[in-house]
Amino acid sequence: MIVLGIESSCDDTSAAVLENGSIVLSNVIFDQNTTHGKYGGVVPELAGRCHIESIDRVIKNALTQSKTTLKQVDLIAVTVGPGLVSSILVGLNTAKALAYALQKPLIDVNHLEGHLLAIFLQEKVEFPYIALTVSGGHTDLYRVDGFGDYKTLGRTRDDAAGESFDKVSKMLNLGYPGGPFIEEKAKLGNALAHRFPRAFLGRDSLDFSFSGLKTSVRNIISKRKEGLIPAISDSDIAAGFQDAVIDILTAKIILACKKEKINRIVVTGGVAANGALRNRVALASDRHGLKCFFPKPKFCTDNAAMIACAGHYKNIKKPMSKNEILNLDARASLNL
Ligand code: KG4
Ligand code: ZN
Repeated sequence: MIVLGIESSCDDTSAAVLENGSIVLSNVIFDQNTTHGKYGGVVPELAGRCHIESIDRVIKNALTQSKTTLKQVDLIAVTVGPGLVSSILVGLNTAKALAYALQKPLIDVNHLEGHLLAIFLQEKVEFPYIALTVSGGHTDLYRVDGFGDYKTLGRTRDDAAGESFDKVSKMLNLGYPGGPFIEEKAKLGNALAHRFPRAFLGRDSLDFSFSGLKTSVRNIISKRKEGLIPAISDSDIAAGFQDAVIDILTAKIILACKKEKINRIVVTGGVAANGALRNRVALASDRHGLKCFFPKPKFCTDNAAMIACAGHYKNIKKPMSKNEILNLDARASLNL
């Protein structure tokens, strides 16, 4: 079974060829970091235009690298949401056109399901498991009981964790996307130089909140400017901020496992590429007798291989009719 995956929900144009649900024959990602970097965040109008310019080339490269022809593709899997509508439409319309012209089946994929199942690109994790999807747009905890069987346990009430990395990076003029820059800067800093607040929202809550933390970083930076606090370096701020995010994420994921009586954890999404987070979750898992799984960093950030993977399993359960395919539309918000 050969699946061509297409992903364009935010600022990465990606196409992948996947064999039998887990063998990644190619996974081409074209990021738009230089375009959006100047603005410190994604500019939707520009993102859509960039996708249009690169999608054909990205798909061609994915096919060439995998030594696959369009004829050999058995299924096209494409992201339909959630995300930026003007971005999603580029991938979706390309996928629809290909499916129509080649008379191939197509399956719609929820971007979040792609993140949830990215781990299957590496290994088969036994169900049920607890999954933390932590990205630029989402910070959600799920109970995963099977393919297509997801229960939301908690979510962010304001900003996503990745968004807060991006904003703090912008405040410190480090670069975009912020996560990798903060991670590097934090390696040089002392996380104990300043203790930033951790919003746990009650002992039992599995929800998240990062807006207070973000404001606290902004306050420290402006107080420093006014000379109201002893010198604190950018590296210390990055380290203190990252430590607070990691503390919250780790505590909630352990709490979710306890509440659901599940001992397997999957941490996924762009922020899960963070080495310090991976180390902390791994340590905490050991301490609590849990087994944790992380997709490789290249499968954590947005990529089409995870979309092909989710599409592969979804199509086995319920393929789409020609009419459903024709009527597919992009969805800015879409729950699992
Ligand atoms: O999953 P993703 O590629 O796109 C969305 O679906 O949002 O996640 C992107 C987010 C960005 O906010 C980026 O700053 C963050 O993931 N990120 C990281 C790291 N790499 C990417 N955050 C922390 N540490 C990293 N190493
Ligand atoms: Zn994503």
